[in-house]
Amino acid sequence: MADYIYTLETRLSPDQQKAVTLVQDVAKAADMNLYLTGGAIRDIITGFPIRDLDFTVQGNALKLQKELERAGAVIGHADDETKSLLLTLPGNVRSEIAMARSERYEKTGKPPHILPATIIEDLRRRDFTVNAMALSLNEGSRGLLMDPFNGAADIEAKLIRVLHNYAFLEDPSRLIRATRFAARFHWPLEERTQQRYDAAKDNGYIEYLRNSAIGHEIEQLAYEDDPLNILKVYEKEGWLKVLNAHWSSAKADTVGLSTLMKTRQQMNELGYMPDVAPAVIHFLSARLGDKDIADIRKAIPRKDLVESWKDLEDNAKDLAKRLSGKEAATPSRTWQLLSSARPEMVLFLAVTARQQGVIQKIKNFFTKWRQVQQKIPLLEMTELHITPQLATYPKIANDVFLMLLDGKLRSRTETLKFLKPLAPPPPPPPPPPPAKRGRGKAAAAAAAAVVPAAPAKPGAKGKGKAAVAAAPVALPPKQAVAPKPAVVAKGKPGIAPAKPEKASAKQATQAPPKQAAGKPAKPATKAKPLAKTKTKTPAKKKR
Ligand code: CTP
Repeated sequence: MADYIYTLETRLSPDQQKAVTLVQDVAKAADMNLYLTGGAIRDIITGFPIRDLDFTVQGNALKLQKELERAGAVIGHADDETKSLLLTLPGNVRSEIAMARSERYEKTGKPPHILPATIIEDLRRRDFTVNAMALSLNEGSRGLLMDPFNGAADIEAKLIRVLHNYAFLEDPSRLIRATRFAARFHWPLEERTQQRYDAAKDNGYIEYLRNSAIGHEIEQLAYEDDPLNILKVYEKEGWLKVLNAHWSSAKADTVGLSTLMKTRQQMNELGYMPDVAPAVIHFLSARLGDKDIADIRKAIPRKDLVESWKDLEDNAKDLAKRLSGKEAATPSRTWQLLSSARPEMVLFLAVTARQQGVIQKIKNFFTKWRQVQQKIPLLEMTELHITPQLATYPKIANDVFLMLLDGKLRSRTETLKFLKPLAPPPPPPPPPPPAKRGRGKAAAAAAAAVVPAAPAKPGAKGKGKAAVAAAPVALPPKQAVAPKPAVVAKGKPGIAPAKPEKASAKQATQAPPKQAAGKPAKPATKAKPLAKTKTKTPAKKKR
């Protein structure tokens, strides 16, 4: 049997792993059986990025709300009908926790009759075989995969297959969903599913689409990696008009959207992970009228997404104003301002800013200023015993970085002059071994051999260098990774490339390796060019 827990643990991001643990603890305390279900299981098996975590509990998920909030979850919507919660768990992990339920459709177009159910019954009410799997997160059966419709085989065959003949009639949102999954994964509909899809389309089943499903499917657009493509496919299939009567791809700001996605990618490479969904929905609907926007906002179930979308423009304006004022009068102040701003706002402003000054500052923040870290004299700092073990180290390293940014330390000599008074007194030399005779002498010699060597004196070479190489280095905030030149065209918003600063070979040797502040550095042995971040490439989409 495949070890799905191992796969789960290796495929989830650290924040997603923490989210799984958190939900597991809360469900266990409430004595409810818990399963990971839906798209997360599909994505774990396929190797596609795991975008959100859908949990199913046997019991009323609404009862977990208070405990989850206490643990830092933000509830976006609590659905009394399906007893489910849409929430964002700490670390920006988008999740849903739903009660395991059965759905009985009695009349076309009417909502189903919902009853609490077992996990297997719950899997039967789902849309496609590839989404109808569950992984147990319960003690005793943890890692057990439930796959009653053989979704794993359809994943293997790359097919989208409905569970039964009435799938599209019962829930016409499955028509839209089938289109979305087929476009995203480049998987075709299985032959009979395709026939039923065509028949459902011809028979106008989409008229029976429920309002709640419209909001859910609009929201899902915001999380797509290539939302414009999905929007166009919806348009072609006739689904976009169903989501909003006035929507078309012409109503989207396509330039803004593509700059947004490129800039997001560049930020990811620098270690920033902004939540892009509010900005995606903003650009997708940019040219729709106020009434349509209001309708869409009302329909989207996850209210925290709607609030972030509403606030985008005002927050970006506010940040632009601050970037044009005294608060950003110097590079160091601008750095501090942008470092403390929410990455979502910096991203949105990077795409929408029109003032040259603001554009330039954001560009410098992501490119040129990051290279200044290479001028921090780490070797000499270690020789001065200014190392991460020192309580004042983060402040000293940050002060040096900020002063370098502002050109207040113009040479190595000036930097060292600033650093020397901040050096701690050197540690006292080790006591000499007591003189002993005979066997005692040998023991003393052995003891002396394990006494650590005296730290290198300032300016000393050789061993001192090795010590430097191994020393952890604190970096200014969010500069764990050397910048990668952006591909945005000159003059356009976004992050544009900076010319690399000239650095001596010595400086290059001291360039802090890719790492987060305060983490141990790998030995820096030879001069390296600016490192590029390796981002995990998603599994190749196949046709
Ligand atoms: N689901 C369903 N029918 C729907 C909506 C949802 O059966 N109309 C079930 C599916 O099992 C789906 C799960 O609920 O996998 C979660 O729904 P959703 O988050 O919309 O889709 P995901 O499959 O998670 O896909 P995505 O990758 O887009 O998040």
